[in-house]
Amino acid sequence: MTKILMVCLGNICRSPLAEGILKSKVDTSKIVVDSAGTAGYHVGSLPDSRSIEVAQKHGIDLTDQRCRKFKVEDFEFFDYIYVMDRSNYNDVIALAKSIEEKNKVKLLLKEAARLEVSEVPDPYYGGTDGFEYVFGLIDHACDQIVDMLQNGRK
Ligand code: 4NP
Repeated sequence: MTKILMVCLGNICRSPLAEGILKSKVDTSKIVVDSAGTAGYHVGSLPDSRSIEVAQKHGIDLTDQRCRKFKVEDFEFFDYIYVMDRSNYNDVIALAKSIEEKNKVKLLLKEAARLEVSEVPDPYYGGTDGFEYVFGLIDHACDQIVDMLQNGRK
């Protein structure tokens, strides 16, 4: 069972999208996908309504998700911890207790998508077009993750 965690700051905009998009592309009886935030501002909340909306437009339902905070036990449970930006990376790495734990943490776009842009920008303070842009970046990365899982390629 491969276990993948998507992490952003609030766990209401980017990582819920990443969780929903990846879940839509894999057999969830074989691959565990979850998401969390490095901050606890929104614990227990639904994803941001703009993330719910853009996902819905692409046939993905995020409304069963509830925000949770990243916890140190996540290092043990998950095989891959994909973060959205460098600030998330630094926050998560600061909690790691070993090289093995640090090695699980990867920038989603750098390791998975290999796009020119290496960070998924925070769309929280922008308009809905930002959410569509973020959806596209994450969708591309998730295609690459599926490819990696199928071909055993890192
Ligand atoms: P996210 O976006 O990290 O993509 O979930 C944010 C959501 C909320 C806040 C910041 C970023 N906030 O400061 O409340």
